[in-house]
Amino acid sequence: PRIIASNYVASAVRPDQYPEGDTVEVAFLGRSNVGKSSLINSLCNHRGLALVSGQPGKTKTINFFTITSKEDLSETEERRYEWFLVDLPGYGYAKTDKSNRNIWSSFIADYILNSERLMLLCLLVDGRHPELPIDQEAFNWLRQAGVPLQIVVTKIDKLNSKERQQNMRFIKENFPCETPAIPYSSLKHTGRELLLSRINQVIVG
Ligand code: GTP
Ligand code: MG
Repeated sequence: PRIIASNYVASAVRPDQYPEGDTVEVAFLGRSNVGKSSLINSLCNHRGLALVSGQPGKTKTINFFTITSKEDLSETEERRYEWFLVDLPGYGYAKTDKSNRNIWSSFIADYILNSERLMLLCLLVDGRHPELPIDQEAFNWLRQAGVPLQIVVTKIDKLNSKERQQNMRFIKENFPCETPAIPYSSLKHTGRELLLSRINQVIVG
């Protein structure tokens, strides 16, 4: 499958600001600066769809994008379907929640716990720093909440093959999920096919 159209729809901090309808959703979450916006742009092959910056904490609202995916079923048959890509604010950025003991603001928890259209949440883990306690905490919270998870390991191009092997093993042991973690490089688009297939599988089976 590949994405043939992607457009910004809405930003929200409250449920009444979510877009209407029953379009299914796939959300993206991770520590601030993990490479979430870059990954969204790579996945959609749409530079500038999500804002990328060197400064952490750029995304402060829940952002919805409409995505059209296309899958070839045979040489003559294709299937197109629409879904919402949901970009969630990054967690673990000290400046935004210094006095806050929660991992993320309650409006993010509200979305994750209450969205009836959320089919999959992609939790992004930095390939260079898979051992951060905040990611483990986020993972445990999501697991406990019963959220369907896909781990995506970012910035994989920054690792040599030995580091990559070690860190992927660490992630396999410490972020156990139904499906294996997907290594991703937004720079080289490594992992794009795999992640699009996973999303396709979740949405249309
Ligand atoms: P916030 O929205 O601020 O929380 O950050 P984010 O998670 O959206 O990260 P963003 O995509 O803005 O990327 C942060 C930094 O990491 C930028 O300098 C990117 O260029 C860099 N980066 C992101 N993905 C990759 C990648 O796959 N490879 C490499 N080498 N750098 C990356
Ligand atoms: Mg971002």
